[in-house]
Amino acid sequence: MTAVVITGTGLFTPQHSIDNDQLVATFNHWVDAENTRNAAAIEAGECEPLAHSSSEFIVKASGIHSRYVLDAEGILDPERMRPRLPERANDDTSTQCRMGLIAAQQALENAGVNAEDIELVIVACSNLERAYPAVSVELQAALGAGGYAFDMNVACSSATFAIETAANAIRAGRAKRVLVVNPEICTAHLNFRDRDSHFIFGDACTAIVLESQQVATVEQAFEVLDTRLVTQFSNAIRNNAGFLNRVSDSDPLAADKLFVQEGRRVFKDVCPMVASLISDHLASLSLAGSDIDRMWLHQANRHMNDLIARRVLGHPPEPEQAPIILDRYANTSSAGSIIAFHLHRNDLPSGALGVVCSFGAGYSAGSVIVRRC
Ligand code: COA
Repeated sequence: MTAVVITGTGLFTPQHSIDNDQLVATFNHWVDAENTRNAAAIEAGECEPLAHSSSEFIVKASGIHSRYVLDAEGILDPERMRPRLPERANDDTSTQCRMGLIAAQQALENAGVNAEDIELVIVACSNLERAYPAVSVELQAALGAGGYAFDMNVACSSATFAIETAANAIRAGRAKRVLVVNPEICTAHLNFRDRDSHFIFGDACTAIVLESQQVATVEQAFEVLDTRLVTQFSNAIRNNAGFLNRVSDSDPLAADKLFVQEGRRVFKDVCPMVASLISDHLASLSLAGSDIDRMWLHQANRHMNDLIARRVLGHPPEPEQAPIILDRYANTSSAGSIIAFHLHRNDLPSGALGVVCSFGAGYSAGSVIVRRC
């Protein structure tokens, strides 16, 4: 069976960045206005006053300092508190396709691959901007890629699940070169009026080129040694937005049509699940945590990553062993572990071993074990 190698990656980072103080100032401005509006009811004990958010809490609980966003103005406007992304005409390139083009062109350049030599394009992300036609097919056409294309959604694990799908297509001889793209517009499904979660997401797009080793030309590739995926149903991370909202006559703007989570429970459920996924996966390849040089983990919460890395490695990770990018990107859903891989891999020597690992809603988790060629 042919070996599969990752030969290139790309990253689109939006121009605007919002730090915690800016985000908290907007949130607290809105809280004060709401409490003033509800003053009589609060005074009568009919409702509780809303509480302020704080930058100190955000850094302490998550490790997030700032996030990149497609539109800062709409998010920071206390009268709006959501990004303003104008609707695009049908003959204009869609937002996710635009993000994907920038990341994909970088990844193709990295890999030394021409777009027309790509035989499969997978757009894998948590939220797609429309039902159809597939964003991947639009991107395939915009790039001038060959073959076929499809979209897939496994929430934060979309990238690792797509890597396994791409690797299988290459191993099965369906395609020699596959492009995986993860355009995440997380700020569009984030409830900026929810104190528990208003700080957790940012926007970004990543791209990955995977090739059969037989056709790859770059020397600095990473061989995909194996992939392992796991899912376990949970409602602890949920978003009820969907095409049935219209026929159920529910409020399309209600809070449950946005990202909702029980953060503590997610933390407790997911950390052990992911640590054993990676450890069992390594053991199946006769490897131990001590053999791993780097872990490119999903970027949701710094404490989660420290805990998972400690369990897998057997000791607290050195900063370079489990690089953190969520401090400036926040949680970018499926793009997070790929951003870490994109920014923190070139220093590794030939033969170095690493694991790309995602985890999130579903629950879903994916482990991709790679070795530098
Ligand atoms: N500002 C100030 N205080 C806040 C706050 C805010 N924005 N949000 C919550 N708090 C308070 C709470 O009211 C609570 O106060 P109490 O102890 O007096 O009741 C306290 O801080 C702790 O709240 P909690 O929600 O338990 O915080 P936490 O330590 O669990 O951190 C998360 C919250 C979201 C950062 C954390 O749970 C997390 O990251 N979980 C994993 C999420 C994840 O990976 N999701 C995957 C998504 S794809």
